[in-house]
Amino acid sequence: MLLKDKVALITGAGSGIGRASAIRFAKEGAKVMVADVRAETASNTAAEIEKAGGVAKSVSVDVRVGAEVERMVNETIRAFGRLDILFNNAGVFVPKTVVDTSEEEWDWVVDVCLKGVFFGCKYAIPQMIKQGGGVIINTASGAGIEGVPNLGAYQAAKGGVVIMSKGIALDFARHKIRCVSICPGVIETPIAENCNTVPAGASQLVWARTGNAHPLGRNGKPEEVGALAAFLASDEAGFITGVAVPIDGGFSAGAFAPPGRERPS
Ligand SMILES: NC(=O)c1ccc[n+]([C@@H]2O[C@H](COP(=O)([O-])OP(=O)(O)OC[C@H]3O[C@@H](n4cnc5c(N)ncnc54)[C@H](O)[C@@H]3O)[C@@H](O)[C@H]2O)c1
Repeated sequence: MLLKDKVALITGAGSGIGRASAIRFAKEGAKVMVADVRAETASNTAAEIEKAGGVAKSVSVDVRVGAEVERMVNETIRAFGRLDILFNNAGVFVPKTVVDTSEEEWDWVVDVCLKGVFFGCKYAIPQMIKQGGGVIINTASGAGIEGVPNLGAYQAAKGGVVIMSKGIALDFARHKIRCVSICPGVIETPIAENCNTVPAGASQLVWARTGNAHPLGRNGKPEEVGALAAFLASDEAGFITGVAVPIDGGFSAGAFAPPGRERPS
């Protein structure tokens, strides 16, 4: 077991990547605090873990609000006695250029995706210092390391997560705290529906188009990201910090023309 007896706190764990990671972390022996702004989805994930014989509790949190994030961290420590792994994963997006993005949309995306990561780190790191170490994983995106059309606010937030994670890794390495970001390509989760950015059920149509944008010719699965996160959170990854790890079927490897659209040789 990769995470035996570790205590992990995962935000956005009521759905998608966070949910799959919570389930995987629990299978690897971690005690998991499942956090989400949609309390019912968080308790559903925790119940699923417990039904499978794992250990989990849930907490509702809006990661945009510092006092709520502080409470979430404290509840985790109260419930499980410590905090070894913080996985700042909650995220939302608005598919618009900067010209079309309203100030409210900018604030929503940047506050959930970037300010939420700031608050998580701010309130978890002092506990990790007290304990003599810890691991922070922040979900960024392929859009945090490559230009992607139509994602103005999201790109800004995710690029911020990538570089902030590197700085945190440097600031707290002497306290044995590792900090990394992960940069997924398109992963088949309900994120579009959860953000009300596409009509219900339209994700399948989007995924049919995006698969081929990845050199491996398909989108990713949330369980694949959960497996990466479990490894990065474990002592097996003890010499890895300050990196942005792509999990994107080759999307960020370089210029790529999908089949049928290759440049003439
Ligand atoms: N799915 C993809 O293609 C993809 C690609 C790259 C990066 N990501 C990132 O992965 C992370 C997880 O996304 P997902 O695809 O699993 O989406 P998802 O919608 O399935 O899960 C995101 C979760 O975050 C929660 N959330 C939203 N606002 C919140 C808030 N204010 N406070 C607390 N929780 C909140 C939602 O309720 C939801 O359960 C996000 O950061 C997303 O930006 C996703």
